[in-house]
Amino acid sequence: MQEYFEFGIGARVLYKLGLASELGPVIDELGAQRIFIVADKGVTAAGLLGPVIEGLRGNAEVVGIFDSVPANSSVATVMEGAAAARAAGADMILAMGGGSPIDTAKAIRIIVTNGGHLLDYQGYNVISARLVPMIAIPTTSGTGSEVTPYAMIRDDEQNLKLSFASRYLVPDVAILDPLLTRSLPPTLTAATGVDALSHAIETFVSTENSSFSDGLALTAIDMIATHLRDAVQNGSDIDARGQMLIAASMAGMACANSYFGVIHALSHAVGGKFRVHHGTAISILMPVGMRFNSAVVPERYVRIARAMGVNAGGRSDSEVIADGISAVATLSSDCGLPTRLRDVGVPEDALPELAAIALLDGAIYHNPRVATEGELLELLREAW
Ligand SMILES: [Fe+2]
Repeated sequence: MQEYFEFGIGARVLYKLGLASELGPVIDELGAQRIFIVADKGVTAAGLLGPVIEGLRGNAEVVGIFDSVPANSSVATVMEGAAAARAAGADMILAMGGGSPIDTAKAIRIIVTNGGHLLDYQGYNVISARLVPMIAIPTTSGTGSEVTPYAMIRDDEQNLKLSFASRYLVPDVAILDPLLTRSLPPTLTAATGVDALSHAIETFVSTENSSFSDGLALTAIDMIATHLRDAVQNGSDIDARGQMLIAASMAGMACANSYFGVIHALSHAVGGKFRVHHGTAISILMPVGMRFNSAVVPERYVRIARAMGVNAGGRSDSEVIADGISAVATLSSDCGLPTRLRDVGVPEDALPELAAIALLDGAIYHNPRVATEGELLELLREAW
């Protein structure tokens, strides 16, 4: 019986094929006229911004384009983008790209609205008032950043990834346009898709889950199990692309309210130390993390297995759970993702240090099973 839970959405989500080139009315509703665009070089090189800018003509003016956001955005990048947005007199931020440009745009909003330095706003609920409006347009189906209240920004001076969290960071509008994800290559489609799957799975077993997040998570698991292979194997399968985009946002919305767990804690350690792509690390660590947690919340893992398409009829819970975990591992390997840490450049002698880092990662606080450093090391060994 849940004694308390909280659930909020915040972002208005709009879905339509080609919607990104019809944003005039959305901008009018937000009351903005001077749009500052945040993207990355991949977005501009793929020519994705042209139709967006064309669609704004007559409703608003694009006063600047900041497309020098790296894969892991930094405090310096945010401050540079914020200075440009302020100098241009921007009254709205529009972000297009994967998690990094969207997180960067969220952080730029803080400075454009409040001034000062980004490091002044680090942590939870430090921001306490509305920010300039923001539209987020994801071009990957993974992070769910377009609907979450978080921004992860790297501080190169301290060599740390900083977390910014506030409900005021949630973009006002998330635009889901599957046409934009068609050009995402198979490997990135796979890694970001499996990351989205992990958001749904970790949320569903988290100590902070609620019936609201459960519904989003289970539906997202079902959608990803059904459509990820098609999106990877045939990038122009627009139905699969659309389903993956929606599922990633639903999973993002679920974990924005109910948080992560041991799989993300281990993946953050591996990704931070050896620069392994987040979704790739997740795909390797998900089966071991699931096995670890299934011992304490087996009934939840039976439901995950069913959502993954496992036929439960007449078999024991432990068989169904094992099949559910296998279904996740098979999905990753069918999508061409590596299955072992040794295959992505992680040396065996680094595992104890990774276990120590993961133990301190904030993602672990809401894991359903308390993990010791020794148990985390065992999981890493299993995945090595
Ligand atoms: Fe993730």
